[in-house]
Amino acid sequence: MKRRVLFAAVFLTAGLLGVGTDRAWAAEASFVGSAACAACHEDIYARFQTDSKKAHTRDKVEKMLDKLTPEEQQTCFQCHATGYGKPGGFISYAQTPALGDIGCESCHGAGSLHSEGGDTEQIRHRPSPEQCLTCHTAERNGDFKPLLYGGTH
Ligand code: HEC
Ligand code: HEC
Ligand code: HEC
Ligand code: HEC
Repeated sequence: MKRRVLFAAVFLTAGLLGVGTDRAWAAEASFVGSAACAACHEDIYARFQTDSKKAHTRDKVEKMLDKLTPEEQQTCFQCHATGYGKPGGFISYAQTPALGDIGCESCHGAGSLHSEGGDTEQIRHRPSPEQCLTCHTAERNGDFKPLLYGGTH
């Protein structure tokens, strides 16, 4: 509990300071999928897979797709897949299966350069609250604010 409160405080401060702004890497890196992060971040990956709905969102969304037009399906992927519409990001479940859920890189940015050797300059350390709001829009807010820590890892 204590950790969660601390996290929220740090998180809000980071937002006010504008921490989380993309550095130069963002333009060059592509998306590798969460499993590629597990090699060096085993515990975080394991927690994410067990505790976060994000890591399993494809199971729910895929069941709904045959009721939707292709155009409507594309809108879902903006928020329910990794890196949709960005270079090296999600295209389709068939072509980019590793990016079919919401992954580490949905918050930390494209991770190919960082994954080569763990250079911390080539990954977004602390995603900003604005970034959460790109998917957690007013009408889809849910209850994510009191759960800042639980929803991440
Ligand atoms: C702007 C981002 C955004 C778009 C676009 C979007 N979603 Fe979501 N969706 C969310 C967020 C955020 C949540 C979690 C909060 C909530 O449940 O309201 C969510 C939750 C869900 C859930 C889980 C609901 C539950 O109760 O378990 C399903 C299933 C889902 N969306 C399907 C879809 C489908 C299908 C589409 C395309 C027609 C779609 N979403 C488009 C952001 C989005
Ligand atoms: C929903 C957004 C989100 C997702 C998804 C996410 N993270 Fe994070 N991550 C964060 C935030 C926010 C912080 C900053 C936490 C803090 O400063 O206390 C963070 C911090 C980190 C850190 C540095 C601090 C630490 O806890 O060691 C690492 C490493 C990390 N994340 C790796 C990952 C990996 C690997 C995955 C996927 C398995 C992942 N993250 C998925 C939001 C996310
Ligand atoms: C080759 C090993 C390796 C891989 C693969 C890797 N990382 Fe890292 N990562 C590191 C090391 C080493 C650090 C620095 C020490 C630490 O924080 O654990 C780090 C730190 C981080 C941080 C904190 C950055 C900071 O400024 O402190 C985040 C966030 C992160 N990694 C996310 C990811 C994500 C997301 C992936 C998958 C796309 C990933 N890592 C893949 C080795 C790796
Ligand atoms: C790429 C879009 C996207 C981004 C960015 C994003 N989320 Fe989410 N988040 C979702 C969707 C979609 C769901 C619902 C998934 C489902 O139920 O299938 C969700 C679920 C959650 C949940 C519900 C609990 C759970 O187990 O997943 C929390 C809490 C949450 N997000 C917090 C955050 C926070 C905090 C951030 C920013 C650091 C963030 N999210 C960034 C799309 C996103």
